[in-house]
Amino acid sequence: MTYSFDTQIDRRNTGSNKWSKYASDVLPMWVADMDFAAAPPIIDAITERLRHPVFGYCSAKPELRDQIVADMQAKYGWTISPDDIVFLPGVEPGFNMAIKALLSPGKTLAIQTPIYRPILMAPRHWDLSQVDLQVDRPVAEQAAALALADAVLLCNPHNPTGKVYGRDDLQALAAATRGKPIISDEIHCELLYDGRKHIPIASLDPSIARRTITLMSAAKTYNIPGLKAGFAIVTDQMLREQFNASRLGMVDSVNILGLEASLAAFRDCADWRDDVVAYLQANRDYLVKAVAERLPGVSMVAPEGTYLAWLDCRALGLDDPQAYFLEHARIAFSAGSDFGARYGKFIRLNFGCTRATLEEAIECLAACPAFASRA
Ligand SMILES: Cc1ncc(COP(=O)(O)O)c(C=O)c1O
Repeated sequence: MTYSFDTQIDRRNTGSNKWSKYASDVLPMWVADMDFAAAPPIIDAITERLRHPVFGYCSAKPELRDQIVADMQAKYGWTISPDDIVFLPGVEPGFNMAIKALLSPGKTLAIQTPIYRPILMAPRHWDLSQVDLQVDRPVAEQAAALALADAVLLCNPHNPTGKVYGRDDLQALAAATRGKPIISDEIHCELLYDGRKHIPIASLDPSIARRTITLMSAAKTYNIPGLKAGFAIVTDQMLREQFNASRLGMVDSVNILGLEASLAAFRDCADWRDDVVAYLQANRDYLVKAVAERLPGVSMVAPEGTYLAWLDCRALGLDDPQAYFLEHARIAFSAGSDFGARYGKFIRLNFGCTRATLEEAIECLAACPAFASRA
């Protein structure tokens, strides 16, 4: 490993959401960013851009489009062209634009459950009905439910469970949606473990690509979500025009530093990415073992990707595990209820932190009365 991720960086008083929401004695393991410094080429690229003193409106350089085209080919065997790419200030505005472009009020959107809160809220924001796709069941068994939907909003790799959909599930999903539009949030696509390879659903077949809006970003993998840059890939020109038209004056262009950072990330940071994935995988393995050995009554399925772990606390018999651990362990997790009304007894843990922080978290958890009485 070239890069070390063991350095503890004090993020308090830096405007960090994660580190400013709770009291100073609380360890934050909630919002999905990592406690690691960005890769040196990203910091160099931003610094270099800051040397030019004019920060006018900007658009993506052709090099960034070309880099993404080359990456899609090299990483996924997916051939796209530079014009297929639409830059966005984030993936969340991207899936909301896509919904607005594709579905009128009253239509039905399929979403996975449990699911990242802004996706959970999307059907309500846009006055849509909802069909649930159960993340823990094969897609092929849910074809009947999917057939009811007018479009599907897929999150793969999945937040909060870390499930990575393989070829069979993606094929089944494409078949079950029978020519209907797919919005595919693939923001975590480079954070996969155990040698897994991400498959963009649009890369399965050009006919699937033509009805798909794929959303990606350097934000999660390279830990730069505060720089507000992402992109959509829309290979069908008419769909792309519809998508762009749904900005409606609310989704502006991308931050100039976010564009510089994205280019540096995709072009110059493959080593850093491989190292961070290895570090996160080791964190995951540590967590899986620690949960099994030291937290009786908590269970988890090892995430296949993302730095998020979905902990099932139902057997603990607590009313509200998030509130309980905040009070007793002084750790702030994301509450399961944020991911669906049925998941109040779950918590989401962000292990995008140093190993020492993760170890400290396990110590604090294991010392809680809920475990002491079970040991
Ligand atoms: C699945 C998923 N989509 C979208 C986002 C937000 O992306 P952005 O900050 O680019 O809007 C997140 C952030 O946690 C996420 O996990």
